[in-house]
Amino acid sequence: MTGFDFDSPTVEWLRSRGTARWHDVAEGVIPLWVAEMDFRVAPPVQQAIESTVANHAYGYPRDNGLRHSWAAWAHRVQGLAIDPLKVRYVRNVLSGVQLAIRTYSSPGSPVVLPSPAYMPFWDVPGLEGRDILSVPMVDSDFGWTLDLDGIDDAFAQGAESIILCQPYNPLGRVFTADELRGLAEVVDRHHGFVISDEIHGPLVPVCDSRKASVPYASVSELAASHSVLVSSASKSFNVPGLMTAFVTLFTDDQAHMWDEKVHPLDTEGVTTIGMAANKAAFDSGQEWLDAVNCYIHDNAVWLSQVLADELPGVSYRIPEGTYLGWLDFSAYELPTAPGQWLLRHARIRLNDGPTFGPGGEGHARINLATPRYLLEEAVDRMIAAMSAR
Ligand SMILES: Cc1ncc(COP(=O)(O)O)c(C=O)c1O
Repeated sequence: MTGFDFDSPTVEWLRSRGTARWHDVAEGVIPLWVAEMDFRVAPPVQQAIESTVANHAYGYPRDNGLRHSWAAWAHRVQGLAIDPLKVRYVRNVLSGVQLAIRTYSSPGSPVVLPSPAYMPFWDVPGLEGRDILSVPMVDSDFGWTLDLDGIDDAFAQGAESIILCQPYNPLGRVFTADELRGLAEVVDRHHGFVISDEIHGPLVPVCDSRKASVPYASVSELAASHSVLVSSASKSFNVPGLMTAFVTLFTDDQAHMWDEKVHPLDTEGVTTIGMAANKAAFDSGQEWLDAVNCYIHDNAVWLSQVLADELPGVSYRIPEGTYLGWLDFSAYELPTAPGQWLLRHARIRLNDGPTFGPGGEGHARINLATPRYLLEEAVDRMIAAMSAR
């Protein structure tokens, strides 16, 4: 039992918020797709937002100490050493990834992307005029992992940067320090650069054996010297509409290059409300975060048991991080992509696997950040539709 109520949000309230997850689906459909949570936000985050509003603080945002709060959190929870003065604010994580591609690799050089990948990663390199060299993830004894030989080949073909997603959306892996050191060796061999999207970093259940996600830059000095970390409290504290994120740089050279190449207009869009919410999340949100991670983990374990009992053909592994589960329906040979089929026949909306690129065929991504009663209803519908097909 925690002091937080994740069980009781009603469908009426969820729809009344008017944000993408519930807004973009028809009445009666249970939406377990876009990465928003169905929970009320952490009380300190809500208070920070309310006091910003009460203060009419709607001018152009200036540093409110968020970078110090982020650095303190990353050190306390993830053991990562950050110089707060090397943190740069950006409006959202995807724009941070885009600016990092521009800043830390040569114009025209391809970008390596492990696949399946978070859908917009397929578009961001193109905004900088870059091609993508995609490298399928490989299944190993300990789960999905990076194909280091494939990544090595991609760099040998001229790529200069790689987008890493730690924890990994959509596969739910949290890479270990050893796996990341392996990547660092490959990247170093080619003088490449790692853009590490760690927006899901805080979303690792401390009620499980793991304690925290391992930041790429924390595994060695070498890794820090050829990487930047892009993040925000937006995903883990459910405030992605407030438009505040940051890029953490690790060397003086990186800071010099960023300040030289990134125009202030490219980073506009950060908000005073988002800055306040992010700061409160890192300063005072840990109790809520631990509780929400455990609630999501319980949902993930419950789902795994029900699928094993009722739909054993659906293969699924409990995610180590993120609140996203990756479901493999390929054994059922559905006539269309599983997300499409389930929307039609079960009235539940998941993200369709093919939108994540190669490796997504036959799969769908499920969002587990939802009250248990809604997950149960959705899974009942899934079982009924699959059994009746
Ligand atoms: C891995 C990853 N990166 C970035 C984003 C989007 O972040 P933002 O809205 O800050 O661009 C998401 C959203 O789900 C995500 O999963």
